[in-house]
Amino acid sequence: MRFDLLIQRWPLFAEGVWLTVQLTMLAVVIGFCIAVPFAIMRTRKTPIASPLIRGYVYAIRGTPLLVQLYLLYYGMSQFEFIRDSFAWSYLREPWWCALIAFSLNSGAYATEIVRGAIERTPKGQVEAAQALGLRTWLVYALVVLPSALRRAIPQYGNEVVFMMHGSAIVSVITLTDILGAAREFNGRYYVSDEGFYTAAILYGLLTLMIVLIFRGIEGRYLKHLKM
Ligand code: ARG
Repeated sequence: MRFDLLIQRWPLFAEGVWLTVQLTMLAVVIGFCIAVPFAIMRTRKTPIASPLIRGYVYAIRGTPLLVQLYLLYYGMSQFEFIRDSFAWSYLREPWWCALIAFSLNSGAYATEIVRGAIERTPKGQVEAAQALGLRTWLVYALVVLPSALRRAIPQYGNEVVFMMHGSAIVSVITLTDILGAAREFNGRYYVSDEGFYTAAILYGLLTLMIVLIFRGIEGRYLKHLKM
């Protein structure tokens, strides 16, 4: 093992860690913002919106994340109207393609997580809120979501870990995330595995951090919740 080279080239891996963390956090947050309204519309069977959301979730879950990333990064240049639009300046950038693909992907999976949690809300809680005469949006804001989002925490922890590991595919569209740094390192120094071992350790440490953070959140918000 060439530890000397690894130590010498640590900024490359630091850059990779930062890109991985940045893409994961942004995608999960944007995905959450997509998921909450979409999940509510799905459970309320809102006309038009609900079937459209069902289609979106189906499309995202029906294709691999890697294919979605390729379609955004390479597939969009086929369309002249896209090349002529403002979106093009973003879709040419691998970073933006990755962010869009990951956010839409996480949004679809999270819609299902949140929908499941909303549907498990005890009926009595909703009826009690309605009996108080609360408007529908207040029933959601004060009763349904606070308990449903708590119930969704353990699954959401999984989703964050998944997105972090899934983000490793950005190294195929030229971005230097953790895996990208590993590939660059191995290539530059003609070594075959130092970079990958380092990447595995870094991913493992980040996963541990996510697990600990979610353990903290669960301790804070799930302890007193009757499921
Ligand atoms: N590995 C699968 C894929 O590439 C699963 C994606 C899961 N995505 C998620 N946000 N949980 O499509």
